[in-house]
Amino acid sequence: MTEKPPILSVLHVWYKYPNTHENVLKDITFSVQKGEIVGLMGSNGAGKTTLIKMFNGLLRPTRGSIFYKGNDINTESTASLSKEIGLVFQNPNHQLFSNTVEDEIKFSLKSTDINKEEYNKIIQSILTDFDLNQYKTRSPLNLSGGEMKKLSVASIICRDPEILIFDEPTIGQDYKNNQFFLKLLEKEKKKKKTIIIVTHDVEFAMEHLPRIILMQKGEILADGPTRLVLKNKALIKKGSLILPQIYSFKESLEQMGIKITKEIHSPNDMIQFIQEFLKTRGNS
Ligand SMILES: Nc1ncnc2c1ncn2[C@@H]1O[C@H](COP(=O)(O)OP(=O)(O)OP(=O)(O)O)[C@@H](O)[C@H]1O
Ligand SMILES: [Mg+2]
Repeated sequence: MTEKPPILSVLHVWYKYPNTHENVLKDITFSVQKGEIVGLMGSNGAGKTTLIKMFNGLLRPTRGSIFYKGNDINTESTASLSKEIGLVFQNPNHQLFSNTVEDEIKFSLKSTDINKEEYNKIIQSILTDFDLNQYKTRSPLNLSGGEMKKLSVASIICRDPEILIFDEPTIGQDYKNNQFFLKLLEKEKKKKKTIIIVTHDVEFAMEHLPRIILMQKGEILADGPTRLVLKNKALIKKGSLILPQIYSFKESLEQMGIKITKEIHSPNDMIQFIQEFLKTRGNS
């Protein structure tokens, strides 16, 4: 069976900010299939935010090309790309600028082809879904950090883009907001949306991101299944990450002389192993 053409391809992309000499992206190449959920990880300053800003044309490659559905995005404006590729910034202050919460959503829908009737319905349902109805006449600047984050996500989701990109979505958010975000991910996954998430959170990645692209100093260090990338101690160190708890627990057991031949990648795998281990110990 031949693989379908990717929804997004990044081909030999280099980038240098105009005011600096160093290349901050160096020969980046990878592709993403429709419906994939990909984590972008790596140390501070690795170039993750710079890279995702290229996907809706906020920055343009110094060299190399990016293709969305087979078309070179260099010929398209940020406004038209943003209808299809939604980027949620790490800091909502960099994204929100309207006078009221409701206007923020209205502005976001402005460039879309949605008809008037649908437009009002979408505004109402987004404000309700994101628990923002009570704040609709308030300035986004007078929301709490968590509420602002929700508004910044809502203002992208309302356009229903094909590719969703989140820069550090879970940082600084309480349990309830993080659960809200996870539910949203599930919903978008069901709609077969393509999702790229920049994160330093290895536990979140282990549980929710099947594939990781790991960056360091503007280059891709590794690209593969999360379980392979995040159990590789050399990569973890280079990417300035910490070993996921499940692997350090497994390592501690092995250091105690307990032999583990079973593949263990999740708490459930570990529970099963311990149950079997205790049973066999009971019989010996
Ligand atoms: N506007 C800019 N002008 C010049 N250099 C910049 C600019 N923005 C970022 N850089 C530099 O580009 C490099 C990559 O930055 P980037 O923000 O993409 O990293 P990151 O991987 O997102 O890091 P973090 O995990 O800290 O968010 C860094 O060395 C940074 O200092
Ligand atoms: Mg960043």
